[in-house]
Amino acid sequence: MSEMQEYVDIRKYSTLQVGGQFRYLFRVTNTDELGEVYSFSREKDLPVFVLGGGSNIVFHDGVLHYVVIKMEIQGFQIIEDAHEHIDIKVGAGVAWDTFVAQTVAMELSGIEAMSAIPGTVGATPVQNVGAYGQEAKDTIVSVEVFDIENNAIKILANAECAFAYRDSIFKNEAKGKYVITSVTYRLSKKVPTMPNYPGVKKYFDEKKIAHPTLQEIRTAIIDIRKNKLPDPKDIPSAGSFFKNPIVSRSTAEKLKEEHPSVTIFPVDDERMKIPAGWLIEQAGLKGKDFGALSTYIHNALVLVNNGSAVFADVESVRDQIVTTVFDKFGITLEVEPEFV
Ligand code: EPU
Repeated sequence: MSEMQEYVDIRKYSTLQVGGQFRYLFRVTNTDELGEVYSFSREKDLPVFVLGGGSNIVFHDGVLHYVVIKMEIQGFQIIEDAHEHIDIKVGAGVAWDTFVAQTVAMELSGIEAMSAIPGTVGATPVQNVGAYGQEAKDTIVSVEVFDIENNAIKILANAECAFAYRDSIFKNEAKGKYVITSVTYRLSKKVPTMPNYPGVKKYFDEKKIAHPTLQEIRTAIIDIRKNKLPDPKDIPSAGSFFKNPIVSRSTAEKLKEEHPSVTIFPVDDERMKIPAGWLIEQAGLKGKDFGALSTYIHNALVLVNNGSAVFADVESVRDQIVTTVFDKFGITLEVEPEFV
């Protein structure tokens, strides 16, 4: 059985650094240990919570009566090496950016635009992580899970995961049913294409590079992110705090008419995505100091902890932002991180 810790300070496990204590915490490095931790949780009659990098979660204060699994399953295995692609199976506990760096070094493309995202590999299917035109769903072949009820390993194909913008079955009907143990990605051996994203294109235009290499794309993304997203090592945050709201085409077009500066992104024939960061900035809340928390000076979508924030502060700031944006635009923002 893996080592157990009790009354663990949550702030060390959350990039936002908000929260009380976990009642129990186990570092899990293999699937056998998973079964053991679930037996323990049944014995104690406590729910299990699986934690990856803690970069997209807001925890309550006080003692959280959970058995927390700190996912640390490692592994990097090439399972298919074909003419144009390679399939790699990666352990859920591997740091996402370590994996991205490895694939870029191997001259494999597909996830380079998702460079420098904090968190673990196992979290990428849950919210279908995405950045700069790439989404996890575009390269995931399958997700290996531990089926809690049946104490067995199961493979879910991409199509079974119901991936959508920042969404999957792991956030919905399969929540609490499985623990993700590894993810298999299909990466391409073909020459990379320029990320289809305005900020990235502008970056390479300025450098007069028409066909960037994989490493150049990775470097560009790291540079661009540095300016917009605080490094959790220096400034506590949970990345984007709200999802970009999806509205009808007519609502988006009306907004664009009234505010030509807004960038709108098509989702499908009927729906468009509006940048939440733009809405918050236009509502006058970019870089606003709410006391314990602020919106980030360089990116209104990111909430940063000024050092002493507790859960109630996060809720209060969330509500103030949602109300202010709604009053100005009639659009309701939804939070992006999970509240536990
Ligand atoms: N914008 C503003 N003001 C701001 C912030 C943004 O006007 O304070 C505008 C930008 O000028 C741009 C638009 O909003 O026109 C979009 O901004 P950006 O390109 O920075 O991306 P985003 O939509 O704010 C999303 C993801 C990020 C991801 C970036 C890059 C969500 C919720 N967020 O942000 O993901 O890195 O695109 O692809 O979809 C995360 O999920 O934690 C995250 C950081």
